[in-house]
Amino acid sequence: MSTINIAIDGPAGAGKSTIAKMVSAKLGYIYVDTGALYRTVALYITENNIPDEDIEKSLEKADVSLRFIDGAQRVFLGDRDVSDVIRTPEISMAASRTSAIPAVRAYLFETQQKIARENNIIMDGRDIGTVVLPNADVKIFLTASAEERANRRYKELAEKPDCPPYEDILKDIIQRDYQDMHREIAPLKQAEDAVLVDTTELNLEQSAEAIVKVIRDKTGREA
Ligand code: DC
Repeated sequence: MSTINIAIDGPAGAGKSTIAKMVSAKLGYIYVDTGALYRTVALYITENNIPDEDIEKSLEKADVSLRFIDGAQRVFLGDRDVSDVIRTPEISMAASRTSAIPAVRAYLFETQQKIARENNIIMDGRDIGTVVLPNADVKIFLTASAEERANRRYKELAEKPDCPPYEDILKDIIQRDYQDMHREIAPLKQAEDAVLVDTTELNLEQSAEAIVKVIRDKTGREA
């Protein structure tokens, strides 16, 4: 029997991972965060100071893998669990830059397809509906205005002592949007057959419900 594949793409900070996790829990599917794979590759490149021209060769020994521990995805570099250290602003920016390198995308392509072949999954990223899983059962393009995304991020960070000013967060988001949408290979864009879900005016629960409704309508599955 073939597996069910749901693709969720959209810009940074649209709430993809939080919302996709909620929807996966409701449906009993595995949630796959492909951004974490790109971040892990970026960490590898950054820590080892690998120049762009050597990336393709050095990725052969990078050993990036994805494991599920108690149902939650963790990413590994060799035997080291790097799931938490990849979440810094530096690695966010590095991942946005290095994910535009064709050798990086080629390296992660098969990893993503294999997991989708073997499991019922909700996979989120930038090119899942357009490139990685063009035949996904359901495709969703999840977005929100840049200001609202910056606002949410600011609220998340506001408790922390080194919280950057709102303007800096907004600037970062706009820069990452631009990089992700204007790269030559697999740019962020809505697949023709994707359903647009704009969460600017929705809270997390409403966003998850909107997506469950799309999945229910498309697959006929009760959730
Ligand atoms: O979703 P995220 O912010 O964790 O992703 C980090 C970076 O990885 C993002 O700036 C673009 C890149 N990315 C990508 O190019 N393709 C994907 N499928 C997922 C992420």
